[in-house]
Amino acid sequence: MRKDFLSIHDLSLYEFTKLIDLAKEVKAKPDRFHKKLKRKILAMIFQKPSLRTRMTFEVGMLQLGGEAVYLAPSDIQLGSREGVYDIGKNLERWVDGIMIRTFAHQNVIDLGQSCKIPVINGLTDLLHPCQAMADFLTLYETNKNLKSFKLAYVGDGNNVCHSLMFAAAKAGAKMAVATPAGYGPNPEIVRLAAEDGQDTGYSLTLTQDPAEAASGADAVYTDVWASMGQEAEKESRAKLFAPYQVNAGLMAKAKPEAVFMHCLPAHREEEVTSEVLDSRQSIVYDQAENRLHAQKAIMCALMGDAKDHDD
Ligand code: CP
Ligand code: NVA
Repeated sequence: MRKDFLSIHDLSLYEFTKLIDLAKEVKAKPDRFHKKLKRKILAMIFQKPSLRTRMTFEVGMLQLGGEAVYLAPSDIQLGSREGVYDIGKNLERWVDGIMIRTFAHQNVIDLGQSCKIPVINGLTDLLHPCQAMADFLTLYETNKNLKSFKLAYVGDGNNVCHSLMFAAAKAGAKMAVATPAGYGPNPEIVRLAAEDGQDTGYSLTLTQDPAEAASGADAVYTDVWASMGQEAEKESRAKLFAPYQVNAGLMAKAKPEAVFMHCLPAHREEEVTSEVLDSRQSIVYDQAENRLHAQKAIMCALMGDAKDHDD
């Protein structure tokens, strides 16, 4: 594995598959990994709020025999009190790895380059790779092969959408993304994912029609319409995105056995109705659980010694 985990695009197909396999093993046999990161310490830098990311990294480190130190947005004051370069140069003297949730994606790249210890991307404005790893772990649990799988993403072409595209490209899944005009995924990410997925069976359909994206889908995924940092646009986006709500009508366009996915937190009755979120088709809490297992695998791969487990 390379030193940092910043984007699924950076992973080779082999590394992606290995990480998914390791996550399955960590989930199935957690006791075999309970000393894997013994006495190791992870610093967790948060510039944005979190429930899942904080809990799963902290609990994950404890379950692997290590510890995590939480640094709240007001602690470091990244960018105003100190820049990423100096933060990395300090942290590498004390801890064994850094997880960072920040705004500009360049921050995670610069942090990785500033220090010798592994840096893990816990969400930027551009990408949310840990989320997509957990999501694909969740999909692989019920589908051995995702080659003819259709994942429909409906809503904002944001960080979660981008990382799902990179994961779909590795997995060889088909993706259809429906967004309002002007809110589609970043063209550079579209291009890179297409490159990654050239020989895997990946394809991407971009549309403004949610019904077209959901039609015949195996999974329908959505995320909030205004991401963290876009709070000022919340009202204008709510109007624009209203036709993109995932409700029973839209789910009916997908396959009858299709699953509903969301990275959470969800805004009930906005991007998704409670009827869908709480339905039998919804696997959102499996996704949330799998954040723990996927990230334990990522931390083992990056921060562990060569030996994978106890025996
Ligand atoms: N899905 C996710 O990253 O959740 P948090 O923002 O609560 O960490
Ligand atoms: N797109 C959302 C994801 C939250 C986990 C955000 O960036 O706020």
